[in-house]
Amino acid sequence: MTHKIALITGASRGLGRNAALKLAARGVDLILTWRSGKAEAEEVCQQARAMGVQAAALQLDAGDSSRFAEFVAQVKTLLQTQWGREQFDYLLNNAGIGIHASFADTTEEQFDELVNVHLKGPFFLTQRLLPLIVDGGRILNVSSGLTRFSFPGLAAYASMKGGIEVLTRHMAKELGPRRITVNVIAPGAIATDFGGGMTRDNPQINAAIASQTALGRAGLPDDIGDAMSLLLSDEAGWINGQRIEVSGGMLL
Ligand SMILES: NC(=O)c1ccc[n+]([C@@H]2O[C@H](COP(=O)([O-])OP(=O)(O)OC[C@H]3O[C@@H](n4cnc5c(N)ncnc54)[C@H](OP(=O)(O)O)[C@@H]3O)[C@@H](O)[C@H]2O)c1
Repeated sequence: MTHKIALITGASRGLGRNAALKLAARGVDLILTWRSGKAEAEEVCQQARAMGVQAAALQLDAGDSSRFAEFVAQVKTLLQTQWGREQFDYLLNNAGIGIHASFADTTEEQFDELVNVHLKGPFFLTQRLLPLIVDGGRILNVSSGLTRFSFPGLAAYASMKGGIEVLTRHMAKELGPRRITVNVIAPGAIATDFGGGMTRDNPQINAAIASQTALGRAGLPDDIGDAMSLLLSDEAGWINGQRIEVSGGMLL
C-alpha cells in the first residue's frame, strides 16, 4: 500500500517535530521544513526513516511569501524524484514564533513579523500548494488557546491566531468540492522552546498554567503531536471547518 505523504512546516523542533514522528509511527511519509535548524530537521528525518517511512527536509521561511513559488517548485521536484508522485496528502501549517509585547508597546515590525509567519504565510503558501494536494486531502492549521482566553503581552500574536481560525472556516468551505478537509488545532500552553521556553523552563509560569488546567499540568509536545496525528488520520475525515482546542481543559 502506498504511504500517505504529509508536509509539515516548522518540523525541526517542538510541536512540528513531535507531529512528524507521530505520523511516521503511523506509516506516513514526510516532507519537513526547517528555517534555521537544518541539522535538527535531518535528525527528525533519520528517526522517521528508522520507523520505515520516507522523509526529506527542505528550507522554508514561512514568513517570506516572495520565496514560496521557489519552495513549491522544490516540493514538486522532490515528489517526482523521491516518490514518483505529483501530489501529497496532508499539509500541517505549524511554523511559528511567539513575540511578547504589551498592546501599548507592540511595534509595527513585531506586528508585521507575526502577521507574515502566522497568517500571510499559511494563506499564500497553502494557496500555492493547492495543486499539489490530493483531492480528499487534509489541511491542519495551528492556532492557540489565546483566541479564547487572554493574557497580557500577546495581543498581536493572538490576533493572528484569530485570523487563521476564520481563514480555516473559509478554506474548508471553498475546498469542500475537492473533498479537502481544513481544521485548526488550538493548543494550550505547551512546554517547548516557544516564547523563549517559558512554559517549560519557568517554574512559576508552569505551575500557574497547571493550576489553571483541569488535568492539572501544562501541556507536553506529545499531547499536541498525538492530536495533530489524530486529526490527520483517516478516522477524522468527517471533522471539517472546526477549531479543536487541545489544552487539557485550560481556563474552562
Ligand atoms: N508551545 C506553545 O505553547 C504553543 C501554544 C499554542 C500554539 N502554538 C503554536 O504551535 C506552533 C509550533 O510552536 P512550537 O511550540 O513547536 O514552537 P518552537 O518549539 O519554537 O518551534 C518552532 C518551529 O517553527 C519553525 N519556525 C519558526 N519561525 C519560522 C519561520 N519564519 N519560517 C519557517 N519556520 C519557522 C522553527 O524552525 P527553526 O528551528 O528551523 O528555525 C521550529 O521548527 C506555532 O504556530 C505556535 O504559534 C504553540
